[in-house]
Amino acid sequence: MKSLLEILEPGSPDWVLATSLDAGRLPKHIAVIMDGNGRWARKRSMPRVAGHRAGVEPVRICVETCARLGLEALTLYAFSVENWKRPRAEVETLWRLLRFYLKKELADLMRNNVRFQAIGRIEELPASIRRDLQETTDATAGNTGLRLNLAINYGGRAEIVDAVRALVDQARRGEAVEVTEESISNHLYTANISDPDLLIRTSGEMRVSNFLLWQIAYAELYVTDTLWPDFRRKDLLSAIMDFQRRERRFGGLSTDESIPAAASPAATSSSSSSPVAEALIR
Ligand code: FPP
Repeated sequence: MKSLLEILEPGSPDWVLATSLDAGRLPKHIAVIMDGNGRWARKRSMPRVAGHRAGVEPVRICVETCARLGLEALTLYAFSVENWKRPRAEVETLWRLLRFYLKKELADLMRNNVRFQAIGRIEELPASIRRDLQETTDATAGNTGLRLNLAINYGGRAEIVDAVRALVDQARRGEAVEVTEESISNHLYTANISDPDLLIRTSGEMRVSNFLLWQIAYAELYVTDTLWPDFRRKDLLSAIMDFQRRERRFGGLSTDESIPAAASPAATSSSSSSPVAEALIR
């Protein structure tokens, strides 16, 4: 597979953006709340489903771009556990679009070495959708590049509930179970995939909408007013550029502040570390 720079026309706006990225500091995992399809359609006096239809192209562009950049994972929020409240015709259109995408894009997913999986309460989806999702998962299982997670019938709280239930079930079977951050992470739908370092939300709302609640604990948030159907490669590259300008501290201090790191609270209960450092570290 060619890298992103190899397929861009030298001097084009996307090429200029791509060449200004620091290849050593790309996010490993990008998560996207694709929002604004309805507003995009309304602005054009079109039915809402036209917005969803126009939302397929940016999905294709983002998957290809992340794959060519060599990222580890891309997680897209396609359908939430709350989206069942929408009119039946809209929900059915979303299923149709999803099936169309899966069929049409399989060849590209293979070409781009993308490994696909659906995350969420997949068992509650219509059988035909489950079958198509499984076929794409199986067909791409041997691919070693980008992990594409499509969140469908997904809820962040439901995911944590499912993880805790799995641990309780293990305990009931008599297996040794520890409840730790690690054991909960290992039972999330995204087990074995690093947490997103960048969460993008389109169309301006400042909410996380029950998406990857556990995994985004330290993610950088990037909200753009661009509506999802208008989101293009330049918008994705701009989000990555913005991410690279951020200083990520994970609760610690910036690298130019020279107070030595404090030990963990357990180790400092009779505390010999600097109280200033302790206060700043929180
Ligand atoms: C949010 O816009 C978008 C969705 C609920 C669905 C996302 C679906 C797509 C991008 C279509 C194709 C997807 C795949 C995976 C092929 P909204 O309807 O909430 O917009 P609004 O807030 O402007 O009403």
